[in-house]
Amino acid sequence: MTTANTTRFNAEALSWDTNPSVQLATALAHKAYLARLPPPPTLSTYNVLDLGCGTGLLSLALAPSVRSVTAVDAAEGMIAALESKLSSSSPDNNTAGTVKNVRAVHALLTDPSDPCLATDPVTGHPQQGRRFDLVVSHLVLHHIPSLLPLFQTIHGCLAPGGRVMVTDFEDFGPDARKFHPEGKMDGVERHGVERGAMRALLEGAGFVDVKVETAFEMAKQVETEPGSGVVGPVVVFPFLICEGRRV
Ligand SMILES: C[S@@+](CC[C@H](N)C(=O)[O-])C[C@H]1O[C@@H](n2cnc3c(N)ncnc32)[C@H](O)[C@@H]1O
Repeated sequence: MTTANTTRFNAEALSWDTNPSVQLATALAHKAYLARLPPPPTLSTYNVLDLGCGTGLLSLALAPSVRSVTAVDAAEGMIAALESKLSSSSPDNNTAGTVKNVRAVHALLTDPSDPCLATDPVTGHPQQGRRFDLVVSHLVLHHIPSLLPLFQTIHGCLAPGGRVMVTDFEDFGPDARKFHPEGKMDGVERHGVERGAMRALLEGAGFVDVKVETAFEMAKQVETEPGSGVVGPVVVFPFLICEGRRV
């Protein structure tokens, strides 16, 4: 994670939820996660970490299905947007301050033992060495300069038997670059993730039962010409879901 990233995401936080592609990608990722997770009552016991939660779109979607969500983001603006949703009583806000099992945390997470993860969102009490049943992360990997340390951190955050499920668009060739307009390349470290590389990274970080597959495809309007700033043609972007289990 670089300063360029944090600056960019702070700037984008207020308008993040107004981007239809962001909303659609989250809805599709949520569906992909639920299809692969156990049904209740098992799922209802899960303590989840959403790494790079942004404004909490995925955290809030998962919240009714699980025991708790710890929603972590390095960009203060993103966390402020999530906190405002959690505390808002506006009828326009469908969370309306009623979600009691999500905790927003402003942190650049690099250490599984970071005390910022200790507080249980449900009880509000700190728990030394708190670990998670599931770590999710959506649309984050393409912003991370070095992925192995990230997966090592995720591995360390999981309880034995815990699972990781991360989603991001696939590097399917030169057209993958079109996912971002040329004016929004700041902080983009790669144009999607590669299947083989993801498998190797998860295994390298110590995960077992590693699976990398297409989760969904999403049509998105892209720039007519690189840098034109005008959107027109539609490209279908495949998204990968990368899963693993901590022994
Ligand atoms: C493209 S945004 C995606 C936000 C959200 N997951 C969504 O799909 O709406 C990526 C987010 O990851 C955050 N991020 C990246 N690395 C992080 C880390 N190590 N710890 C916490 N947040 C991180 C950034 O601050 C940014 O808000």
